Amino acid sequence: MEKTFVMLKPGVLQRRIAGELLSRFERKGLKTLALKLLRMDRGMVEAHYAEHKGRDFYEKLVEYTLSGPVIAMVLEGEGAVAVVRRLIGPTSLPDAPAGTIRGDYAARTRLNIVHASDSAASAEREIALFFKPEEFCPWDDGNQDWF
Ligand code: CMP
Repeated sequence: MEKTFVMLKPGVLQRRIAGELLSRFERKGLKTLALKLLRMDRGMVEAHYAEHKGRDFYEKLVEYTLSGPVIAMVLEGEGAVAVVRRLIGPTSLPDAPAGTIRGDYAARTRLNIVHASDSAASAEREIALFFKPEEFCPWDDGNQDWF
């Protein structure tokens, strides 16, 4: 089953909407395999956003990501990378439709409140940056075929 990485950015805790956002992923039926609250340091933020280095928004993005704790998680499900990208909506805020997380909760592209891997390869890289193998907590759904 495919895994993806999701990061709820500092604005989520600041606005007290972590529960609402976690519930969107759960409602969809995605399985939470790893989850933690952490404060990233500059080196970790720079590694995570290395592909954006040099872009005009890069410094502000790093500053925002350092402004408070983030919630990092690994979600699993059929086609999880694409499913999560559809749930969160496009990066460009004016294009994010109502009903997506970015469409419903964020008004500025730079301050968009959630990050999710854009491919299986990025998911693998991002998961390894945030989680050690022993931080995963595998579990099963019992005999019920919920989803
Ligand atoms: P995220 O999915 O975390 O990946 C890179 C981040 O850079 C993105 O969300 C936005 O927060 C930010 N970003 C991307 N494009 C722009 C842009 N054009 N202007 C400002 N910020 C951007």
